[in-house]
Amino acid sequence: MSINPAIASVETERSNLKIPAHIGVIMDGNGRWAQKRGLSRMEGHKAGVEAVRRAVELSIDYGVDYLTLFAFSSENWRRPPDEIKYLFGLLRRFVASDLARLIRQNVRVRIIGDRASLESGLRSIIEDVEVKTAANTGLNLLIAFNYGAKSEITAAVRALAVKVASGELDPGSIDEIALGSHLSTAGLPDPDLILRTSGEMRLSNFLLWQSAYAELVFVEENWPDFDESVFVRALKAFTERDRRFGGIGT
Ligand code: FPP
Repeated sequence: MSINPAIASVETERSNLKIPAHIGVIMDGNGRWAQKRGLSRMEGHKAGVEAVRRAVELSIDYGVDYLTLFAFSSENWRRPPDEIKYLFGLLRRFVASDLARLIRQNVRVRIIGDRASLESGLRSIIEDVEVKTAANTGLNLLIAFNYGAKSEITAAVRALAVKVASGELDPGSIDEIALGSHLSTAGLPDPDLILRTSGEMRLSNFLLWQSAYAELVFVEENWPDFDESVFVRALKAFTERDRRFGGIGT
């Protein structure tokens, strides 16, 4: 049987990619995507959920272990109330409509961020999806919701201070591991790659501690246009980076 050279070259290209164990994504540009099409910002977020589904499928397909998506930042409270309400509704609807498929796909879902200040209905939905997927061993999907890195680090420092004040912890034993184990990502590997869409080049308070040695990749496409070609381009950029972690390399 003859081998189609086009398919063979795609497969070679794919086998040459380094696959990050953990990818963090700042899903930006939903509003601009919608505006360009004369649609409401909400339509942009709705299309963003389709891109979330593609990102999950691609991460499973390419063998990524952890995918962290920045869905609602602690700064997003500055948006108009209708938009905030819509984004909260999207998370609820995503869980309701996709839970069965996520379980089938062996995806473990966790939500990171300040959940204590969310209303109790949403908190139970979050707890429910976490419990129902807890035994899954495939892709780890982390959704950062009501998340802000500075407040996450502050909360970790406060928790350590409480332990010191009660005599449970010696201040001399506070090290990076101790602080890391009080973050919402305790026990999870740091991201290797942070991808941001829409051409903006900043971290916007996303995984600041955990991204100390992450490779940053910025692409021009708005989040709703995220697809395999954008994903592969980001993986290629990651593959070409020389990660030295402060050393001099090999
Ligand atoms: C940034 O675009 C996007 C957000 C603030 C929300 C991201 C949310 C989703 C993709 C959908 C919900 C996700 C899940 C997991 C259910 P922007 O509104 O800042 O766009 P702009 O900068 O063009 O205005």
